[in-house]
Amino acid sequence: TAPQLTDPFAREISYLRVSVTDRCDFRCAYCMAEHMSFLPKKELLSLEELDRLCTQFVELGVRKLRITGGEPLVRRGIMGFFNAMGRHLESGALEELTLTTNGSQLRRHAADLFAAGVRRVNVSLDTLDEAKFAEITRWGRLAQVLDGIDAAQEAGLKIKINAVALKGFNDVEVHRMVEWCGARGFDLTFIEVMPMGEMDADRLDQYWPLDAVRAELATRWRLSESAHRTGGPARYMRVEETGGRIGFITPLTHNFCESCNRVRLTCTGQLYMCLGQDDDADLRAVLRANPTDNAALEAAIREAISRKPKGHDFDYSRREVRGEVSRHMSVTGG
Ligand code: GTP
Ligand code: 5AD
Ligand code: SF4
Repeated sequence: TAPQLTDPFAREISYLRVSVTDRCDFRCAYCMAEHMSFLPKKELLSLEELDRLCTQFVELGVRKLRITGGEPLVRRGIMGFFNAMGRHLESGALEELTLTTNGSQLRRHAADLFAAGVRRVNVSLDTLDEAKFAEITRWGRLAQVLDGIDAAQEAGLKIKINAVALKGFNDVEVHRMVEWCGARGFDLTFIEVMPMGEMDADRLDQYWPLDAVRAELATRWRLSESAHRTGGPARYMRVEETGGRIGFITPLTHNFCESCNRVRLTCTGQLYMCLGQDDDADLRAVLRANPTDNAALEAAIREAISRKPKGHDFDYSRREVRGEVSRHMSVTGG
């Protein structure tokens, strides 16, 4: 049996999130700065290096691999990497290969993703209003994303929509989103906005605790507990009227760190042990210093996991932001 990765709090690490690029064709306000300078290519792990690293993690017991960015589908050659990871699905070592995407390139890639073994995609979509969509993404076209979602569905991929709950922004459309997702058979997950990157004053005003979102939803829909779990942090409820599911990701109001099973790899090969902490490990340096020796890599990964913190300290109480992390979400892909 595979040797497991276990952290100091006896949590088993079986979920690796991998950011394959820092680039994105959108600029969501809570995720990236408007004027980003992107990394030069030599800083990035090559697709071969990504393969070697991910394979090492799979050998150490990772069962779920989620590809993120930036926008993963804008990285050149990325389908080759999905195909390479598909071999771990075939061998049974990996249970799930999936991605989180903004949807803009799904029309082009959906069928190939399915062929590589992907069965489920999470699409970030905060609003169904064209003008608001252009505002939050700074220039994205909603129609392109909706077309990408159609393509994913046609290709046989299951779809989960991720919406960051933002007061004064998408609060007026949560019912419409439940209806829209329910009619199409998509799961819908709401996320509490986390204090990462540039925290302008607006962000605090926009924070909308999911207890309030749930209360709003309950005015219109019959919600019942659901035992559905995906290995991610969402807790689900069933919507009786649509037969659909709504997930709630509540880092601020109901911290889920005690059951944390994941770590994150950036596109430059830094391993972050926690989304809400700054500590990282430079796996790229180890990889490049040991082109053939995987023992050194395994040792570096184990050492990093031994430093995994208990959790984040995000907190907006008394309208003062604590636990803030200066890197943008786009670095680690959420
Ligand atoms: P599923 O496999 O569908 O459960 O995916 P997931 O929820 O694990 O992945 P997704 O990329 O859809 O994550 C949605 C969002 O949840 C992320 O972008 C983060 O905002 C948040 N999130 C996911 N994992 C963590 C975590 O470990 N800690 C915190 N604080 N937030 C997380
Ligand atoms: N807080 C919460 N979620 C965020 N995301 C990006 N930035 C933040 C933030 N500051 C979400 C995106 C996407 C996922 C990858 O991360 O909306 O669904
Ligand atoms: Fe895990 Fe850190 Fe996320 Fe908590 S905040 S669930 S410890 S990655």
